[in-house]
Amino acid sequence: MNINCGLCTVRSWQYGDEDQLPRHANNKTIWLNLRDSFPNPYTLTDAQRWIQYVVDPELETNFAIDVGGEAVGNIGLRIGEDIDRCSAELWYWIGQDYWGRGIVSAALKAMIDYGFTQFKLARLYAQPMAHNAASINVLEKAGFRREGLLRSSIIKNNVLMDTVLYAYLSSDWLADSNDFI
Ligand SMILES: CC(C)(COP(=O)(O)OP(=O)(O)OC[C@H]1O[C@@H](n2cnc3c(N)ncnc32)[C@H](O)[C@@H]1OP(=O)(O)O)[C@@H](O)C(=O)NCCC(=O)NCCS
Repeated sequence: MNINCGLCTVRSWQYGDEDQLPRHANNKTIWLNLRDSFPNPYTLTDAQRWIQYVVDPELETNFAIDVGGEAVGNIGLRIGEDIDRCSAELWYWIGQDYWGRGIVSAALKAMIDYGFTQFKLARLYAQPMAHNAASINVLEKAGFRREGLLRSSIIKNNVLMDTVLYAYLSSDWLADSNDFI
C-alpha cells in the first residue's frame, strides 16, 4: 500500500525501516499516550520485532507514516472480531520532531477512506486519553464525533484515568443498512 497524503506518505512497512525507528519511537511522552504493548525504552530489538510483525502479514493493518523517505510513525487499525467485525479501532503515533505539522491529520484522512473501502467497515473509532488534546484535535478535524467519556477506563503508568470515545461512521453503510457481511 502506498498513499501520497501531501505532507507524508502512508505506506507498507518494509525491511530497513527498523534502523531509524528507535530514534522516533524511543520516547516516554509517546509511550504515555499509547498501550503498554508499545515498548519503552524502545530498542533496535523492539524495532526488529515490530518489522517482523508488520512486513507481509496475512492481513495488513499497520502502515508506516513516511516523511522524506523515512518511517517516522505508525497508523494502524485493530479490526474487531465476531459481532464487532464491522468496527475497527484506529491508533497512531509520530515522532515528536514531527508534531504539530498536520502530518497525522493528513494520514488519518487517508486511513478513513482506506479502512472503509478495503475492510468494508461500518465504524472507525478511537479512544484517546481524556487529556490528549492533540489526538482529540486530530480526530475532530477529521470528522470523528465524540460519543462519550469513559470514566476510569484505563491504567497507564500506574494512574487510573478517563478516556474519550470518538467514532466515524461509513456513509456507505448508512445509505444501505442491508449491506450485511
Ligand atoms: C497525537 C499525535 C499523533 C498528533 O500528531 P500530529 O501530526 O502532531 O497532529 P497534527 O499536527 O495533524 O494535529 C494536531 C493538532 O492538535 C493541536 N495540538 C497539539 N497539541 C495540543 C495541545 N496540547 N492542546 C490543544 N491542541 C493541541 C495542534 O495545534 C493541531 O491542531 P491544528 O492543526 O488545528 O493546529 C502526536 O502528538 C503523537 O504521536 N502523540 C503521542 C502518541 C499519541 O498520543 N497517539 C494517539 C493515541 S489515541
